[in-house]
Amino acid sequence: MLLELIDRRRVVFFGGKGGVGKTTLASATAAALARRGRRVLLVSTDPAHNLGHLWNTRIGDSVTDLATGLAAVEIDPAATTAAHLARVEETMHEMMPRHLHAEVSRHLKLSAASPGTHEAAILERIARIVDGSVGDYDHIIVDTAPSGHTSRLMALPEMMAAWTDGLLGRRAQAEKLAEAADALGAVSRRDRDLLGSRGATGSSTDPVRRRNERLREILEARRRLFGRFRDTLTNPNICSFVIVLTAERMPVLETVELHAELTSTGVAVAACVVNRRSPRDQGDFLAARAELEDGFVRLLRTRLPDAPVIELPLLPGEATSRAALLALGEHL
Ligand SMILES: Nc1ncnc2c1ncn2[C@@H]1O[C@H](COP(=O)(O)OP(=O)(O)O)[C@@H](O)[C@H]1O
Ligand SMILES: [Mg+2]
Repeated sequence: MLLELIDRRRVVFFGGKGGVGKTTLASATAAALARRGRRVLLVSTDPAHNLGHLWNTRIGDSVTDLATGLAAVEIDPAATTAAHLARVEETMHEMMPRHLHAEVSRHLKLSAASPGTHEAAILERIARIVDGSVGDYDHIIVDTAPSGHTSRLMALPEMMAAWTDGLLGRRAQAEKLAEAADALGAVSRRDRDLLGSRGATGSSTDPVRRRNERLREILEARRRLFGRFRDTLTNPNICSFVIVLTAERMPVLETVELHAELTSTGVAVAACVVNRRSPRDQGDFLAARAELEDGFVRLLRTRLPDAPVIELPLLPGEATSRAALLALGEHL
């Protein structure tokens, strides 16, 4: 049923609390889609790199084949953040006068530790993967890290586009000033030429203008990237989000919250997957648990009457082998 709900979506996010089964279900879904003949890229943003453990292979930060039609990449958040900040630093240095460079670098070093920077870097990386692989994959399945910030992550393209727009606006102003200064310079040069003394002042403005144009190109390319990514995230025919939870009070309440945040950001929720449902026919203890869980599933359905709810059984063993993933895929 889940496979039908995400059938033609090119980008599918799996999110939810830590330990509920995101990595397992993202993998089982990716494997099931690959078995249907789709080309699938599984992307993990979890620093714990559970994907490699689960598939019993080293994946790492470059695309690695796992099975026919199935490849995976584990985004390394620390390396991605460092690379992102290096790019930002380079751009900022080009924009700022030299005496402020040390200040800019100090500020960026501090911001490297902030969770927002981390998310922005990972988001930019996902945006680049989604953007750069059109035609290569039918599905990009993203196993998100168990942070409570997933929905903020989804709102980031909007924020980052606004930030870039702000910088571009300032550049435009600065360029107008520079043009005015050039015009003044041209007048004074002409005056000087008329006076017969050819000064060298005019030639220095050309490299500055070229640098400004290059900066503008960088910022505009970023803005376009985020714009396209936002369009992707908010198009329910292209992208959807699967919320994974267990049938317990806190996961249900957090799911309701996450659902509201995603919906208000314009991201479609394909389904809520209630994982690890206890069996009713394996003794009194598990039957009692199953009954308790029924109450929480009812709560979920009452609070989110329009969201498809899919329930998956608790497996007897850990879902850590390919065979177990494929078995779980049978329930999707
Ligand atoms: N349906 C299931 N039945 C039994 N064990 C499961 C099931 N789904 C997940 N698990 C196990 O639960 C643990 C947490 O799953 P994982 O996918 O790593 O969660 P998350 O990525 O949300 O942190 C793993 O040990 C996994 O094998
Ligand atoms: Mg995980």
